[in-house]
Amino acid sequence: MTGIQELLLSRIRDVADYPEPGVMFKDITPLLADPAAFTALTDTLSEIATNTGATKVVGLEARGFILGAPVALRAGLGFIPVRKAGKLPGATLRQAYDLEYGSAEIEVHAEDLAAGDRVLIVDDVLATGGTAEAAIHLIQRAGAEVSGLAVLMELGFLQGRARLTPALDGAPLEAL
Ligand code: PRP
Repeated sequence: MTGIQELLLSRIRDVADYPEPGVMFKDITPLLADPAAFTALTDTLSEIATNTGATKVVGLEARGFILGAPVALRAGLGFIPVRKAGKLPGATLRQAYDLEYGSAEIEVHAEDLAAGDRVLIVDDVLATGGTAEAAIHLIQRAGAEVSGLAVLMELGFLQGRARLTPALDGAPLEAL
C-alpha cells in the first residue's frame, strides 16, 4: 500500500449497522475534514483525469459532487453533475437502474455533454455498480465517451467491477 493509500484509508470511518442493520457504512467525512488527505485525493484523481484524456468530469450525487468538483478544477476541466431524477431544471437525459429493492433514475442536463467529450466519472464508492453503469449509459447516450471511472473505494465483494466491464468497453476503472 502506498503512503497516499494509507493516508486515505486512515481517514475513512467504518460505521456499523448504518443506514440499516448488517451494513458497514464507509464514512468519508473525516477525510473531507483533513485538508492534507482531501488534497492528496484530489491530486490523485485529477492525474487520472489528465492521464485518461478527459475533457469533462462527471460527479455522481451526492458524494461524487464533493470529490468531483475539486478534481475538475484541479485538472482545468468543467464539472457536470449527474443527479437523482427531478433535481435538474433544464432538458435532461434520464436513465433508470435497478436497486436491491425497486429502481431509481438519474439525470444529466442534455446540453452538458456532446459528441467529442471524454468524461471521467468520479464517485466515492463503487458497490454493486448499478449507479455507475447507469451513468456510463447516460454519457454514451449523450454521444460522449467515457474516459474512465475513478472511485475512492471499491467494495470488491459486491462484484461491481465485473458488472461494469461491458459498459466501460476498455476504459479504465481506478479504485484508490
Ligand atoms: C452511494 C455511493 C455511490 C453508490 C454506489 O450513493 O455514493 O454513488 O451508492 O452504489 P452502487 O455501486 O451499488 O450503485 P447513494 O445512492 O447512497 O447516494 P448519496 O451519495 O446521495 O447518499
